[in-house]
Amino acid sequence: MGTRIEDVSGGTKANDILLRDFTSKFRSGYKRVFPLGDSGKRSGKGYLLPDYFCDYEKQIREMEIRPDDVWVASYPKTGTTWTQEMVWCIGNDLDFEAAKSTILPLRFPFIDFSCLFDFETQPAEALNSSFYDFLKNSVNFTINMKSPRYIKTHLPYELLPEQMKSKNTKIIYVARNPKDTCVSYFHHARLIEGYRGSFEDFIELFLQDSVSYSPFWDHLVSYWEHREEANVLFLKYEEMKRDLPSVIRKVSKFLGKEQLNDKDMKTLCDHLSFDSMKTNSSVNYEFAVDKTQNLGLSQGEQRFMRKGKVNSWKEEISPDVAERFDAWIENNLNGLNLHAESSFIKWLAGK
Ligand code: PPS
Repeated sequence: MGTRIEDVSGGTKANDILLRDFTSKFRSGYKRVFPLGDSGKRSGKGYLLPDYFCDYEKQIREMEIRPDDVWVASYPKTGTTWTQEMVWCIGNDLDFEAAKSTILPLRFPFIDFSCLFDFETQPAEALNSSFYDFLKNSVNFTINMKSPRYIKTHLPYELLPEQMKSKNTKIIYVARNPKDTCVSYFHHARLIEGYRGSFEDFIELFLQDSVSYSPFWDHLVSYWEHREEANVLFLKYEEMKRDLPSVIRKVSKFLGKEQLNDKDMKTLCDHLSFDSMKTNSSVNYEFAVDKTQNLGLSQGEQRFMRKGKVNSWKEEISPDVAERFDAWIENNLNGLNLHAESSFIKWLAGK
């Protein structure tokens, strides 16, 4: 499936904020990407992506897929890192030593990272580190990995490599309620992505489907439509919080691994707990936060592992804004014609 691509220029409130407060020497601007042959269940707005997506689109679309690839896909800030660590540990028979000694981006690279930031033309000395090759060109880095490859992406289903669809590649998608996702995304944008604007303006961007990988709903639905396929596993952050062992059992089955005994299950749950991941330098992105601070990309003082809670949006989103969110959720649910079971609809609506 090809795409039609449009430039994003000023003139609307959201685009003005985006171009003023969410560009830097590492990000020149944005595009709207319209996958061709849309299923009709999309908003028609096209996915917002930084300009650099155009440099990698063809290479990603045409990449060779291997039968033992495992992909974790998500909209940003929905529990991707948590899911990656769970999947990698299960897939590698709980090799915690290897998990601790190699940072996550090197064992489970984010293929579309280079679509977000231009680290290729930026001064190399600022990035002199073990994951320089990854930062410079995450697509080549990922393509050239040894098998079995574990790959993270935030791309919607339509923009995945073509071969994934015919080769039944294993895809684990993780979703999270939109209010927590938005708050987490705001802090992340200030901490790592160079966003200089206010919380209020970020909410405006989010609700106008104008942050990278939005529309949130199109993204979610693009995978939701495939949830019944044998090679797709659809998870929710909230269910991982509620009952991690049952999610671990589902993932083990999905990956064709034996079920864990009680002792191993406990060790894995401890390893994946928020407190443990927060202090685990292999997964907590301390290395990236330090770098982004040096590069002047960071306006925040938070850590990547911030709260790790369900409904912590209540601490930051005012009742007025929550009402705007609820109206946005309702509009989108009606418009998208999801025909989903009611528990899913309730979860999406944050009830
Ligand atoms: S990214 O940058 O898109 O890959 O971010 P992502 O990993 O998807 O999401 C980060 C949020 O997930 C929280 N997190 C966890 N929650 C619970 N338990 C564990 N182990 C865990 N690990 C990461 C992380 O804290 C971010 O959420 P917020 O709400 O900001 O705390």
